[in-house]
Amino acid sequence: MRYRTIGNGRSSFDVSTICLGTMNFGTLTDVDTSLAILDRFVEAGGTFIDTANNYNAWVGGHGRDSEDLIGGWLADRGIRDRVRIATKVGAAKENPALPLSNTPPTNFEGLGADVVRRQALESARHLGVERLDVLYGHVDDRETPLAETVGAFGALQEEGLVGIAGISNVALWRVVEAREEAMRQGVGPYGLVQQQYSYVHPEPKLGRHNFVTPDLLDYAASTGTVGRPPLAVTAYSPLHKGALARRERPLFDVEHPTSRARLATLHDVAREVGATPNQVALAWMLGAEVPVIPVVGTSSVAQLEEVLGAVELDLDADVRARLDQEPRLQRAAA
Ligand SMILES: NC(=O)c1ccc[n+]([C@@H]2O[C@H](COP(=O)([O-])OP(=O)(O)OC[C@H]3O[C@@H](n4cnc5c(N)ncnc54)[C@H](OP(=O)(O)O)[C@@H]3O)[C@@H](O)[C@H]2O)c1
Repeated sequence: MRYRTIGNGRSSFDVSTICLGTMNFGTLTDVDTSLAILDRFVEAGGTFIDTANNYNAWVGGHGRDSEDLIGGWLADRGIRDRVRIATKVGAAKENPALPLSNTPPTNFEGLGADVVRRQALESARHLGVERLDVLYGHVDDRETPLAETVGAFGALQEEGLVGIAGISNVALWRVVEAREEAMRQGVGPYGLVQQQYSYVHPEPKLGRHNFVTPDLLDYAASTGTVGRPPLAVTAYSPLHKGALARRERPLFDVEHPTSRARLATLHDVAREVGATPNQVALAWMLGAEVPVIPVVGTSSVAQLEEVLGAVELDLDADVRARLDQEPRLQRAAA
């Protein structure tokens, strides 16, 4: 396993460069398999685990399935000190009787100060921990004054309930403003941003702010110097929910002219370097000029083994150049 330091200028710690996503644990992935994946991840040196307070409310779970499973596992294995747990608040159901949705009306609780505090305490209780190593706002909330949200995360960090605050599904300008607001308030700024990202490019869509963009990576690279607290980028759905490996799966959010060509390049490169397409896609992210922490979902120990195989796969510069070369679009027939 490899490790890197994350922080926000006030608090910092090391995490494995791969973060284990547990969204489906205890719901789509049965309890025994979920526990076996967690055990193997830690055995292999993995230390960074990602969950949320609403997993998996949209597939029949109660929303704390993943947190509860991790909490039980931590207590049973007695390994609280060996792992760093990230959870998220703000996108649980405001009205329990209504469904959650990514489009309005979302039914998200939002990031008001009361919600952030109450739900952070609740997450700590479900996870059975005294401190949430990372607490993300799950989806940016533009209805609540930014100063209120920033102050709420700041207070929890000051009190020690939260190690490092982060934000997910957010526009870059909001990240920058929130961090500047934190500096004004004299509290810990966001040290992590979690966005969707995989080797295939996102489909341009107005009004969507949930992707890792070149601007976000450029901004992250500019941090970590005097007066500019560090910011790390974590990526959800880095395997494109299995569509990188299984080409018959739909490429959600990215089905556009270059996606299939990039996928073909990925498979060609994988054959040449003797790795799987998933491993090459993860190595591409891990070894990038601005390294990103993939938050990887796995539904079996075998899938996890494949992921672990990517950690120490270093791609040569010429291979990276091929992967980064933009595919030529076929000219439309006249
Ligand atoms: N911040 C947010 O809003 C947000 C949103 C989504 C997710 N997340 C986090 O990100 C984590 C990962 O996200 P994700 O599950 O959406 O995406 P992912 O990591 O891209 O995809 C995981 C899925 O890929 C498939 N897969 C893995 N290895 C495979 C292999 N060798 N061959 C074929 N398929 C393979 C599996 O699907 P099958 O189970 O079908 O085999 C697995 O469940 C989540 O657990 C969660 O922690 C955060």
